[in-house]
Amino acid sequence: MSHDEFPTEQPAVVTCGLPYANGDLHVGHLRTYVDGDALSRALRRLGQQTAFVCGSDMHGTPVAVNAAEAGVEPREFAMQYHETYAETFPQFNVEFDNYGHTDDETNTELTQEFVRSWVDNDHVHEKEIQVAWDTEEDQPLPDRFVEGTCPYCGEQARGDECDEGCQRHLEPGEIEDPVSTITGNPAEYRTREHKFLRLADFQEYLQGFLDRVEGTDNAQNQPREWIEGELQDLCITRDMDWGIDYPGEEGEAEDLVLYVWVDAPIEYVASTKQYSERVGTDEYDWEQVWKVDGEAQHGTQWDDEWSEDSGEIIHVIGRDIIQHHAVFWPAMLRGAGYNEPRTILATGFVGIDGNALSTSRNRAVWADEYLDAGFHPDLFRYYIATGAGLETDVDFSWDRFQERVNGELVGNVGNFIYRSLLFAERNYDGTPDADVSEDVRDRIDDALDDFAAAVRDYDVRTLADVAIDLSNYGNEYIQRNEPWNLVDDDPERAEQVIRDCVQLTKAVAVVMQPVLPGKAERLWGQLGEEGSVADVSLDTALEAPPSEFDDPDELFEQVEDDHIEELNAELQARIEEANEDDESDDADEGDDGGAAADLEPLVSERIGFEDFEGVDMRVGEIVSADPVDGADKLLELHVDIGHEVRQVVAGLAELHDVDDLPGTRVILLANMETAELFGIESNGMVLAAGDEADLLTTHEDAPLGTRVQ
Ligand code: 2FM
Ligand code: ZN
Repeated sequence: MSHDEFPTEQPAVVTCGLPYANGDLHVGHLRTYVDGDALSRALRRLGQQTAFVCGSDMHGTPVAVNAAEAGVEPREFAMQYHETYAETFPQFNVEFDNYGHTDDETNTELTQEFVRSWVDNDHVHEKEIQVAWDTEEDQPLPDRFVEGTCPYCGEQARGDECDEGCQRHLEPGEIEDPVSTITGNPAEYRTREHKFLRLADFQEYLQGFLDRVEGTDNAQNQPREWIEGELQDLCITRDMDWGIDYPGEEGEAEDLVLYVWVDAPIEYVASTKQYSERVGTDEYDWEQVWKVDGEAQHGTQWDDEWSEDSGEIIHVIGRDIIQHHAVFWPAMLRGAGYNEPRTILATGFVGIDGNALSTSRNRAVWADEYLDAGFHPDLFRYYIATGAGLETDVDFSWDRFQERVNGELVGNVGNFIYRSLLFAERNYDGTPDADVSEDVRDRIDDALDDFAAAVRDYDVRTLADVAIDLSNYGNEYIQRNEPWNLVDDDPERAEQVIRDCVQLTKAVAVVMQPVLPGKAERLWGQLGEEGSVADVSLDTALEAPPSEFDDPDELFEQVEDDHIEELNAELQARIEEANEDDESDDADEGDDGGAAADLEPLVSERIGFEDFEGVDMRVGEIVSADPVDGADKLLELHVDIGHEVRQVVAGLAELHDVDDLPGTRVILLANMETAELFGIESNGMVLAAGDEADLLTTHEDAPLGTRVQ
């Protein structure tokens, strides 16, 4: 990996976290795949040779537990989901170059090779540990077969992850008060021998790696704390049948399989290898990407921190698996003499209409449900990729979906394209014979620069914004020049204006393609262009469009109110039911924990004073508060913060008396990213505590605009 600016001389691979083949896909899963797909398309657009790979995660207790509940053998159970996923992703225009699975031969062989390599390089050792045991069933309880209390934050946790609390990986034996998920009985700890990867061997290397790795701030910074003290060994084996066998000598560890987090990331390599084998190594060489100078490097020959000549590995993952990708995985690669990731992009979660998504509670919007509603996949892609920056959570609501599609795609992009192409076709049979004006050429040039910068920043949201901004410009341009009024009086000028608009349309197609690939392809056809828009370079946006094309049709359709009402009613009913279940579970848990049991766990990562200094909070006073049309929960506030009056959209409508708000002193986060909600720009965030939005205020007379520190 070079750390050179994209496009580089070396091939790249973009991978997405492997979905466990254990249940239906929902909008939360899809976020990572849409972002990964858009990024890989955008890299190709820049001229970067790129493979986009993934596969199903077939092993481990996430699959074994659900298979047992369904009464099906894990292999058969996982295979069914694998096949469903392989069909579903393309329906969202998520097109992997290879979609494999962890139980196939390529991954099995490669995984065992990795482990042998660690053994040969003396990174593996055996030791006795305590593993949870169900005495009634007389069986060991790895990972999700046991639950208990996280020793780090005190939250309820699974055997190998504190999924509801601090998100840490837990080693066997670490969980406190273990309970079997099979019988519900308290588990006992028994002594067993297991194999361990000595992560401490990579401590220094990992410190350097975290300084080099690119990507989202959470992926670069969170792991630093985890590698501060001496790194704990990682247990790489489990007492299970389902998984890849530990590749020991005869008689050695024969009843153990490898921990699922060993073979899962190695599928990134295996899937790339399968792609390479399919297209031929002349076209794409997996070893050039994953190995160092095409070879695995070991011991003293492997002194360089990284190799300039290896490929660019870019991982797109959910933010719950940062530790696996930023600590365990680089150590695993290094221990086998492989190349290291250049980039880790950890995306935020997806909420459902203001609630946390929950698969077990059915508080989700499912992939099939979206497709059955008959919406084009690109509309979802657009919503999810542009709802927030990569790291930030995105809330999915059908109302907001309708609002954004109708406002931004139908009203802006679709409208500009349709009126331009229709006018061009009706009056000139296609592109008028004129040169593009200098201003428009410069505007497109700027858009292409912005696009390239966004790809280099891995900023998928901005990629899409480039297309939206360009078509906004187009709409203003056509409106300002009114070509319909020029056709008779100034035909030359009319031709010029429409020539510019057709060029802008072509540029929009080129830059929107990573996020809206299906729609861009259709637009490409409407422009009379040959081939696929997926194959063109960025500069094609400035080449002349065909002189003839047919009557266009509308690229985006309006999302209708009654359709949204229907979908909303169904979703709201499910959310209510799920929330009632949550409440009754809370009640069942009794009141022994008191109020503290309801509190969110404390965030374990510390931030430095410099990070805090970056947060600009000011004393403000609400000047006005007005309801937002079509959004029951939102208010449009104007908040005086001394320097200026800020417009802010806040979810206070159902929690405060609107008339009482003007005159209330509040604390405003002034350097919050701006956002647009229901067509209103929100420029700051009013701070409030808890679900009831208890507003933060001051108690003395600090002047408006005073900084909170
Ligand atoms: O957390 C998960 O859903 C895992 N299946 C992700 C695996 S990603 C990887 F490393 F392969
Ligand atoms: Zn925890």
